[in-house]
Amino acid sequence: MLQKSASFPGIRGPIVTIVMDGYGIAKSDVGSAIAAATKPTLDRLFANYPNITLRAHGVAVGMPSDDDMGNSEVGHNAIGAGQVYSQGASLVADAIAAGSIWQGAAWREVVAAVKGGRGVLHFLGLFSDGNVHSHVDHLRAMIVRAKEEGVKTVRVHILLDGRDVPETSALDYVLPFEAFLAETSDDSFDARIASGGGRMNITMDRYEANWNMVDKGWRTHVLGEGPQYDSAAAAIEALRAEFPGTIDQDLPAFVIGRAGVPVGTINDGDAVVFFNFRGDRSIEITRAFEDAEFDKFDRLRVPSVTYAGMLQYDGDLKLPKRFLVDPPAILDTMGEWFAKAGITQFACSETQKFGHVTYFWNGNRSNKFDGETYQEVPSDVVPFEQRPWMKAAEIADAMIDALKSGKYKTLRCNFANGDMVGHTGSFRAATMAIEAVDLELARILPVIDALGGVALITADHGNADEMYEIDKKSKQPAKNADGSFKAKTAHTLNPVPLILYDNVSGGKLALQASETAGLSNIAATIANLLGFEKHVKWDDSLLVVK
Ligand code: 3PG
Ligand code: CO
Repeated sequence: MLQKSASFPGIRGPIVTIVMDGYGIAKSDVGSAIAAATKPTLDRLFANYPNITLRAHGVAVGMPSDDDMGNSEVGHNAIGAGQVYSQGASLVADAIAAGSIWQGAAWREVVAAVKGGRGVLHFLGLFSDGNVHSHVDHLRAMIVRAKEEGVKTVRVHILLDGRDVPETSALDYVLPFEAFLAETSDDSFDARIASGGGRMNITMDRYEANWNMVDKGWRTHVLGEGPQYDSAAAAIEALRAEFPGTIDQDLPAFVIGRAGVPVGTINDGDAVVFFNFRGDRSIEITRAFEDAEFDKFDRLRVPSVTYAGMLQYDGDLKLPKRFLVDPPAILDTMGEWFAKAGITQFACSETQKFGHVTYFWNGNRSNKFDGETYQEVPSDVVPFEQRPWMKAAEIADAMIDALKSGKYKTLRCNFANGDMVGHTGSFRAATMAIEAVDLELARILPVIDALGGVALITADHGNADEMYEIDKKSKQPAKNADGSFKAKTAHTLNPVPLILYDNVSGGKLALQASETAGLSNIAATIANLLGFEKHVKWDDSLLVVK
């Protein structure tokens, strides 16, 4: 059980944690949609309330190195668990380096199935080195190993990124990869790219926001339906010419084939490795392959395949059944220990980030703990630069209702705007995204005051804080050929804020700034605000009681 604190009795009212997704603290205002936004409430919070910055990228959130940006999975895991675990990106890289991945039952079953079947091994996943959902080096290592183990045919189905990496970088990955496949192929080994499309167009939907994306992906990868091209590079060039201005993540689906015959449909007896390690956008396609009863779309043909995920994406639902690398065993989260202490908890976001404040927050568990209530606000299914306000107002409505109900001691929400609009690369829309969040903070905070509560306002990683690619040499925003700034769609390496909104302690409470303070220090901070000592496994609290 969590121990009651001897020095601080806890706040009388509710403790509210507000995650402003994609809100980093940039070193410079150049290219920052946050600096450009009109945000009187946030300005007031930064001027008048205790606030510090937290590390939200690299090893501080379990990524392999400090060159890795943060992301919502590792960020919400660190917040919710109060601890830093080696995350999927690190675990897979280590398993490949050590060779343990090849000794695991899943890899051996995949290879055995291919050899006992038609001989075709398919790889499907996000095709970049973003290291948020996947890494192309993992794919290469598996192809090399498959050849060594006597697999005859490999077909690769590529989801173009442009969201965790520069927005039109697909050919930087495809050209060397097609060369690698050509070099690796010989009389006894045939490896080719078979299909693909933009990750925000096909296959990688999350939280059931738009199953139609997965339907389109199924038709492309499994059935081989769609426009045909000679190679992936030819497909990308042709589609860019046909749909000018479309960035990689949004490019339509394509199939590689000749004379109407696709080179790599997925058939009975094949094996499929979904090589993304992150769960949110892997679950729906995994269900399409694994579920016997399936009513999300008409699969038309369901091949009997040996399917493996890079990791297990959901330990509660056991999805997928077969996986190459064990996921981090995230234990003793604050959700679990607050539930054991009888604390009621409310979590809310819109669909696009709903799993972030529930499933990721609770250590990649889809089941609730006792005393937890979840509320999902359905997201719009539109390009978010067209609706940068997203569902911020509805989330605020839900938070205000939940606060006023008096049922919850802790509440948490995620405002998706800074991140989801930041990912579109639209600077103007991103400023409006931040303004929408600011407006809604102004509605929630007085309700917290009226109830004698406090709020921690933070973020999981940066995004809207840098909307232009910065040229590595000049350190100035990079420009396109037409003189416009090159949009940056990915997350940033910047720290994030932690603001303590407290009008109840009479100035007794503050936050301890430090070089090492990070997202994993939030759980213990909330525990202290509740009047408890932190769990022994949690990183230290940042709360100072004067
Ligand atoms: C995505 O999945 O949208 C991006 O790859 C990462 O964004 P997130 O980590 O903020 O969800
Ligand atoms: Co993001």
